[in-house]
Order: sequence, then structure tokens, then C-alpha cells
Amino acid sequence: HWTANEKAAITSTWAKVNIEKDGAEALTRLFIVYPWTQRYFSSFGNLSIVDTISSNENVRAHGKKVLGAVGNAIQHLDDVKGTLANLSKEHAADLHVDPENFKRLAQVLLIVLATKLGAGFTPQVAAAWQKFSNVLVAALTHGYH
Ligand code: HEM
Repeated sequence: HWTANEKAAITSTWAKVNIEKDGAEALTRLFIVYPWTQRYFSSFGNLSIVDTISSNENVRAHGKKVLGAVGNAIQHLDDVKGTLANLSKEHAADLHVDPENFKRLAQVLLIVLATKLGAGFTPQVAAAWQKFSNVLVAALTHGYH
């Protein structure tokens, strides 16, 4: 259910992403805009000091893991659900993450990409990413049923 243009928009944007730096930025935005999400990461140190979240080594390492999983999903656009099935189950059964938070992280990720791409974040690219975000969130939420 992807057009060739959508696939190209997603993969060409992704080629510009630095998974550690941009992943840390997305998590930083999540922690600032939705501060209660910090509680899932109590082992990461103090996440309430806005200026230092992005440079926190735990946040950087975790950002890299999260965007690594997003990149893996992008490599398997025709089976995102299957690709993320175990990760979804882990977030549901072991981590007890409220799945509403997946929407929030997907949303801040779009903001990070838009900021990074500037004029390159065209309406076409934005639409393809919005669709991918919905697929990503649905796949991560699937293991909760
Ligand atoms: C762990 C991906 C959203 C909370 C992980 C891991 C990955 C991942 C790859 C490491 C799993 C492992 O090493 O076995 C994702 C993706 C997300 C997402 C792709 C959405 C795009 C969230 C959200 C929260 C969350 C929104 C909470 C607000 C956690 C926690 C861990 C984790 C607490 C364990 C961290 C640790 O102690 O090392 N996630 N995640 N995740 N995730 Fe997510």
C-alpha cells in the first residue's frame, strides 16, 4: 500500500538522519513537551534539566536504539507490523508503556525531521511521513491486543 513516490520520500529523508543525534533530539523533545514520559526512564539520570538532556549519554544511546528500530521498519515498509512485533510485545508486556506515547514520539520525530530538512520537507514528503508515522504507531500498538 505504498506508492513508489512515498517510498522514495521516506527512504531519501531517512538517508539524511543521524540516528544518535536526531534520536536524542526526538527523545529530548518528548521529555520536555510530555514530562511524565520521563518516568519510564528513571535509570537514565535527571531528565528535567532541559539543557543537558540531549547530551545525556543514556539518552543518546537510547535515541540510537529507537531510531535504529525505525530504520529497520523503513527497510521493511511492506511488513512494518511483523518487523516490530517483538518490540511491540516488549513495550506492552515488559515495559508497560502507555501506547498513547507512541503517537507522541512519532509526532516529535516529524518535528525533528521538518526542522532538519527545512524546505526539503515538502508537502509530499510530509504526507508520506505522516502515513509512515501512522503505520509505525499501529505496528507498535499491535502487541497490546
Ligand atoms: C526500549 C524502540 C517508543 C519506552 C526500546 C528499545 C527499542 C525501542 C529498540 C530497546 C529494546 C531492547 O533493547 O530490547 C521504540 C520505538 C518507539 C518507542 C521504535 C516509537 C517510535 C517508546 C515510548 C516510550 C518507550 C514512547 C515511553 C514513553 C521504552 C523503555 C525502554 C524502551 C522504558 C527500555 C529502556 C531501557 O531501560 O534501556 N524502545 N520505543 N519507548 N522503550 Fe521504546
